[in-house]
Formats: sequence, C-alpha cells, structure tokens
Amino acid sequence: MPVLCSGTMERRWVPLLLLLVPWLPGLHPCLLCFGPPIQWARLCREIARSSQKDSQHQHCLEALAEAAVPLAPVTVGSGQSEALRKIIMDALHLLEKQKDKKPFEVSLQEAIQTIWVKLSQLEQAPACIPPCGHQPAARVFQCATCRLVDCQFPVDCPVQDVWVHEDEAITLHCDVPFAVPPELQVTWMFAKDIRTQDLALFEELQRGIGEPPSLTVQDPTLGTIACRLGAASETLARKYFYLNVSGGSVEAEQGLQARFRAVLRWPRGRAPLHLTTSLQLGLVLGFVGLVLLLLLLL
Ligand SMILES: *[C@@H]1O[C@H](CO)[C@@H](O)[C@H](O)[C@H]1NC(C)=O
Repeated sequence: MPVLCSGTMERRWVPLLLLLVPWLPGLHPCLLCFGPPIQWARLCREIARSSQKDSQHQHCLEALAEAAVPLAPVTVGSGQSEALRKIIMDALHLLEKQKDKKPFEVSLQEAIQTIWVKLSQLEQAPACIPPCGHQPAARVFQCATCRLVDCQFPVDCPVQDVWVHEDEAITLHCDVPFAVPPELQVTWMFAKDIRTQDLALFEELQRGIGEPPSLTVQDPTLGTIACRLGAASETLARKYFYLNVSGGSVEAEQGLQARFRAVLRWPRGRAPLHLTTSLQLGLVLGFVGLVLLLLLLL
C-alpha cells in the first residue's frame, strides 16, 4: 500500500493517541489537520439537532475520534499533503451532505472507507536512507502530528577510511544514495594529517557545481578530505574520507601538503586550483630574491 503505516515515529504516537482520544474529543488525528475543528464540531451539533437528542452530540464526537484513530499512523509524501487535505475535506462534505439521509454511523463508516481507498492511491514518498543526509524528497506529512517531518539523520556522514599509496591517484565521489536537486554546489575541503569531522580544521580546496561531483587526488597526502553537498546554509550532506597514505616516511608525507595537487573533474564547474603552479611561482620568487640579495652583498 503506498501509504506508510509503520515507522518508529508513527508507532510511538499510536499508544499516546489512544490514550488521549477518549479525554480530548476535539483531537482527531488527520481529520483535525485540515479544515477548522469547529467545522467538525458543527457537523456533530447539526446531527444532534436533527436527531433531537443531546446525547447524540457527544456520541457523534466520540464516533469521529474513534474513526480517526486508525488514521494516526498515516504519513504521506510532503508533495501529497494537498491531496490528503482534499481527501479529508471531501469526507467531511460527504458527512454533511448525508446527515439527514443516513444514520451517522453508516455515513461515517462510508466516509472512512473512502478515505482509505483514496489514501492507497497516493504516491509514496521515498524511504529515508540511512545513515546520513538531509533528504528533502523523503519528507512526509504525518497525520499524528499534522506536521511535515524530515528523516532524523545527521548531515555529517561517518568518516570513510581510504587506504592509498602515496604514488597512487585516487578519485573520491561526493554522491549520496538519495535524490538531490540538480545543480547542487559541491565544496571540497582538506584537513592535513588528522582523521576528523571538525569543520574548523578544514581548509577549502575547491568549490563548484557539477555532476557527478568527484575529486581526483594525484599525490594523496595524509589527512581527511571532506565534501559538502549544497551551500553552507542549506547543506544536504557532508562526506569525509580519511586518506591513510602508505609508502614514504610520515615526515615526507607531511611535507607533501605544500605540493598537494588536486586535479578536479567538473564537467560544468570552475577550473581547479593550481596549488603546484603557486608553489612554482613561490620558488621562482624566492630564487629571484636570493639573486637580488647576492647582488646587493657583492
Ligand atoms: C592507517 O593504516 C594503518 C595500517 O593499516 C593503521 O595501522 C592505522 O591505524 C591507520 N590510521 C588511522 C588513523 O586509522
């Protein structure tokens, strides 16, 4: 059935609602999410009036609350919440239309039946894919709370260990297993020597827009490379790759950071940084300075 009826969040809510409903006749999960609650109360008042029995009013509210309980665990994709509203409002209008024609219990049964049939025709939101990332496509509308709910995962993905030889080029991918909007910004960062997720320790290497977002490192240096998918203010995920570089001494590897060469593949992005070019420029300038110093001393 395209409607999610399980999930830890929803399951936690059901017992709570079962407890609350008898005491709060105004609380109808899902039914109450749409349309003013007063509209439901008015429906029951009118039914009581037409039946000429005051007890009928309370009975109607209780029947509504009871009918609503099975709807509590329902969630629909956030894009379907308008469709859900229409389903619920149609049910309310059906009840209003039939209030003088059929016993309330009968038309309520029909209305709820219709709600379930229509719910089963709604498109399902993709499931949340663990363990990390903000997943906008998987956002759902939750009947139990009348709210849109996101996957409860951190934006930071666990660090992946990558064993690589210092002479070996390596390509890292900033892809995620869930749907993301096109033209996302991707930022690559590097934290020298350490295995970390502390953003304060990273230096930005490269920023661009590209698909698939990947980074090829020619001379891997010990440390953590991170990528951020999405702008800083609306990050979808951050991935971390610890490059555990073997071969050569640690001291030599640490010295390599200066000549860290990132050759980037951006089909539609900006040109990569040329760290080696700036290093060469630095060497040339240093040499010129030395020559000038020698000339002055002579
Ligand atoms: C790097 O790899 C070596 C050899 O497999 C291992 O002993 C070491 O613990 C690793 N370093 C980290 C920080 O994981």
